[in-house]
Amino acid sequence: MQLLEESKTQTVLVTGGGGYIGSHTVKALQAAGYEVVILDNLIYGHRDLVKNVLKTKLIEGDIGDRALLEQLFSTYSVAAVVHFAAYAYVGESATNPAKYYANNVCATLTLLEAMVEAGIDKLVFSSTCAIYGVPDTLPILETHDKRPVNPYGKTKLMVEQILDDFDRAYGLKSVCFRYFNAAGADPSGDLGEDHMPETHLIPLVLAAAQKRDSVSIFGKDYPTADGTCIRDYIHVSDLADAHVLGLDHLLQGNSSQKINLSNGSGFSVRQVIETAKAVTGRPIEVVEEARRPGDPPALVGNSDKAATLLGWQPRYPELVDIIDHAWQWHQKRHSSNHS
Ligand SMILES: NC(=O)c1ccc[n+]([C@@H]2O[C@H](COP(=O)([O-])OP(=O)(O)OC[C@H]3O[C@@H](n4cnc5c(N)ncnc54)[C@H](O)[C@@H]3O)[C@@H](O)[C@H]2O)c1
Repeated sequence: MQLLEESKTQTVLVTGGGGYIGSHTVKALQAAGYEVVILDNLIYGHRDLVKNVLKTKLIEGDIGDRALLEQLFSTYSVAAVVHFAAYAYVGESATNPAKYYANNVCATLTLLEAMVEAGIDKLVFSSTCAIYGVPDTLPILETHDKRPVNPYGKTKLMVEQILDDFDRAYGLKSVCFRYFNAAGADPSGDLGEDHMPETHLIPLVLAAAQKRDSVSIFGKDYPTADGTCIRDYIHVSDLADAHVLGLDHLLQGNSSQKINLSNGSGFSVRQVIETAKAVTGRPIEVVEEARRPGDPPALVGNSDKAATLLGWQPRYPELVDIIDHAWQWHQKRHSSNHS
C-alpha cells in the first residue's frame, strides 16, 4: 500500500515582498515549497515583478492598517510572517526621522499586535548592520555594542528590542537578520535591485557604465589599502536562502535569534569600480568627492553564527559574481518598460 504524505504546504506572509530583498526571498520561499502572500503598499515595490515573475497573491496595503491585517489573518492561515516592509534611506532618516519612526517602528508595532491577536507567533525580521554604528573592531560579531548613528539604524534596533519583549510577554519567536550590504540579483536575470532613488554603490556604478556617465566616490584618504571605504557585499540570493533557513528554524519550534548575514570579506569602493569595469567591459569615470559625514572606513561582518546555527553558506561570495548578476539584471531592466 502506498502511503500518502500529509501536505506540508504552509502559508507565509511576506511584507515588502514587492521590494528588492523581499522579492528574491519570495522566490526562494516558493522554491522551498511555501505558499506566499505578499503585503506591500508598493511605495517602493514593483507590481510587475510580483505579477509576472513571482505570480503570487499581492495584497496592496499598509502594514500599519490594523483592520486590513485582521481581515488578512482571518482569510489566510498564516504560519509565519517575514517582515521586510520599511523605509531604508539612511540620509533621509536623518532629515525626516518622523517618517522613519512612524513606518519602521509604529507600523511594525501594529503588525506585531495584529499577529499576537491572531495567534501567529513566528516572525523573520530585516534588521541591519547599521545597528552597530561605528565598530571598535572588525569583523563585527552579533555581540558587539549596538550604537546606531542614524535614525534608520535606531528604528531597527528598537524593533529588535520590541521583539525581545514580545517574546518574553507573548511568546512571539523571531529571527532578526542583520544584513550587511545587500547586492547582486537573481542569476536568472528576472529579479534585481530597482530602487528609486538609488543610493547603493553597485547599481550606481552599473548605471554609470550603462549611460557612459561618471560615479562619485566619497573620500579617498580613509585608513584602508586604497584609501576608499570598505563594505561587506552579500548576494541577495544568499540573503534569500538565509530567510528560508530562518523560517524553518522557527517553524521547528526553536528559540529567537539575532544573526548577522555577511560575506565575511570586505571590498573597497575602488575594487567595486574596477570589477564593474571588467564585468561590463566599459570605462567608468570616477569623480572624487569629499568624505560624507558618518561613513565608517570599513564595515565587515562575521556570519559564523548563521553557518553553525542554520547551516547557511553564501553561494555567491565572489564580488565578480555579485556584479555580473547585477549587470545582467540592470541591462534587462533598463532595456524594457516596467512599472
Ligand atoms: N538593501 C540593503 O542593503 C539592506 C540592508 C540592511 C537592511 N535592509 C532592510 O531590508 C528590508 C528590505 O530592503 P530593500 O532594499 O528590499 O528595500 P525595498 O524598498 O526595495 O523594499 C521594501 C518594500 O517595503 C514596502 N513598504 C514600505 N513600507 C511599507 C508599509 N508601511 N506597508 C507595506 N509595504 C511597505 C515598499 O513598497 C517596498 O516594496 C528593509 O527593511 C531594509 O531596512 C536592507
